[in-house]
Amino acid sequence: MGRVQDKVCIITGGASGVGKEDALLMAREGARVVITDVSVDAGEALAKQIGDQAMFIQHDIASEDGWKNVIAKTTEHFGGVDVLVNNAAILKQATIEETTLELWEQVQKVNSTGYFLGCHYGYMAMKARGGGSIVNMSSMAGIGGVSSFCAYSASKAAVAGLTRSIAAHSRFQHLPIRCNSIHPDGIKTPMVFNLPRDPNKPSTVRDGNDAKRLMARFCEPTDIANLVLFLASDESKFINGAEMRIDNGYLMWAD
Ligand SMILES: NC(=O)c1ccc[n+]([C@@H]2O[C@H](COP(=O)([O-])OP(=O)(O)OC[C@H]3O[C@@H](n4cnc5c(N)ncnc54)[C@H](O)[C@@H]3O)[C@@H](O)[C@H]2O)c1
Repeated sequence: MGRVQDKVCIITGGASGVGKEDALLMAREGARVVITDVSVDAGEALAKQIGDQAMFIQHDIASEDGWKNVIAKTTEHFGGVDVLVNNAAILKQATIEETTLELWEQVQKVNSTGYFLGCHYGYMAMKARGGGSIVNMSSMAGIGGVSSFCAYSASKAAVAGLTRSIAAHSRFQHLPIRCNSIHPDGIKTPMVFNLPRDPNKPSTVRDGNDAKRLMARFCEPTDIANLVLFLASDESKFINGAEMRIDNGYLMWAD
């Protein structure tokens, strides 16, 4: 018996990085996984690797019709939705001075509106099912401040606020629908390691020459997937509205 045996789990951005690790781990723990992504080849390959327990759906999380399609296909194929992992996101590097309205809106449309749409349609599907768990991927950038991630930081703070509102709503509706956010510092995935590097602008996020610093800041995708699995499972049935940091003590300092 797996830790999420027979639960139907939608994972957005499941073709790469953390989402891919979530899908593999949840499938190993007995879930039926719906992998959604804009990246079709990688998403289909992963679903094929997992087998009959998995399904891939091409999906842009910023599209309302896309979400209606994902919920409808998941319900048709697997009977309903138990878990939604809002994981897909984009990262654009720009300070407040460099951020244009166009870049700001591009990031909010995916990272903020995309999460709202997922929560809106996911919550209603879970209500019809009688319960469920929503896991929202936020970031330490949504709690602290990262100068070069202006639009991204704001979108991740929006995700935290959205999460708390949903948790309050389900609590006062007396419904067993939980909504929690995860706040990692760095994770070893393409999102940060593929960022273009400007030699004139040393990155405060990545410093390839400082192995100790890298080890202290960057975790493996499995470190995140383990928490996603716990929040998806009934083991966490009394955890609702929590902001869970995975950051190796980012907010701690030596005195
Ligand atoms: N990597 C880090 O250091 C880090 C740190 C904190 C938080 N996070 C968060 O973790 C989550 C996973 O990121 P990752 O590091 O695995 O990144 P990643 O770039 O490896 O994977 C993101 C996936 O999302 C997909 N995607 C992008 N836009 C999409 C859209 N509009 N619709 C559907 N899919 C879309 C991409 O195709 C990709 O497969 C994100 O929410 C990210 O913000 C990452």
